[in-house]
Amino acid sequence: LCNEQQSCRKHSLPKDDIVEVDFEQSLVDYKDFTHAAHGMLYTLQQGKFEGNSQKANILMVARFDGALGFPGGILDPTDLDAADGLNREMQEEIALDLNKHKFVQTDHVFSHVVTSEKLVTHFYAKMLKLDDYHQVEARVATAADWSTETLGFLRVPLYIMSDKLRGLPIFLANQFSGNARMQLVGAIDKCQIMKKEELDLALQTAEKTVK
Ligand code: GTP
Ligand code: MN
Ligand code: MN
Ligand code: MN
Ligand code: MN
Repeated sequence: LCNEQQSCRKHSLPKDDIVEVDFEQSLVDYKDFTHAAHGMLYTLQQGKFEGNSQKANILMVARFDGALGFPGGILDPTDLDAADGLNREMQEEIALDLNKHKFVQTDHVFSHVVTSEKLVTHFYAKMLKLDDYHQVEARVATAADWSTETLGFLRVPLYIMSDKLRGLPIFLANQFSGNARMQLVGAIDKCQIMKKEELDLALQTAEKTVK
């Protein structure tokens, strides 16, 4: 059913269909495209904590369409800018308390154009203290869009177990929305949460697993 050439899995869209673009430039060059902004809330902690070998926690959501993704969404004309739209979606989808945690433009990590979908995806990341991260998690099921858009939240397993399969590799074999998988891997790299070699290994294993 899944012809690899046709890439029925979004994360295996042909690489040349997804291109990184400068944020400001994308607003000019792709002003007729749909723009979306998604955000990664994460926490860093040294060494072992909370009963596993995670050195960081990254919050993702289970979406209504069955795919995994980051909270966030399509910018609408009433949003002042991308960060403002992102904050609105964060509040709608995970009940992020905007009095405490607001994304700003300096949290921007990268933007991509998905040509085939006439979509530009802006990605932001914001580090929280562990206590605040716990509070964010505890509010998710109170969100307005809980059970309609957001079906769950999770922590990404940020380790590779001894069989080189369990942990991040199996997680990456899930179906992700848009280019969320690419954003996740790119952000883990940029935020120096895992080493590049470990990430490449996890990606290779994930690709073998989904066949
Ligand atoms: P509605 O409120 O129902 O309009 O949805 P939304 O505004 O929350 O939009 P959504 O989060 O579904 O994002 C819009 C599109 O962006 C999706 O159809 C996907 O193609 C893509 N998308 C969704 N989640 C992610 C994500 O985490 N990362 C990226 N890059 N794209 C995503
Ligand atoms: Mn939404
Ligand atoms: Mn959304
Ligand atoms: Mn929306
Ligand atoms: Mn909505």
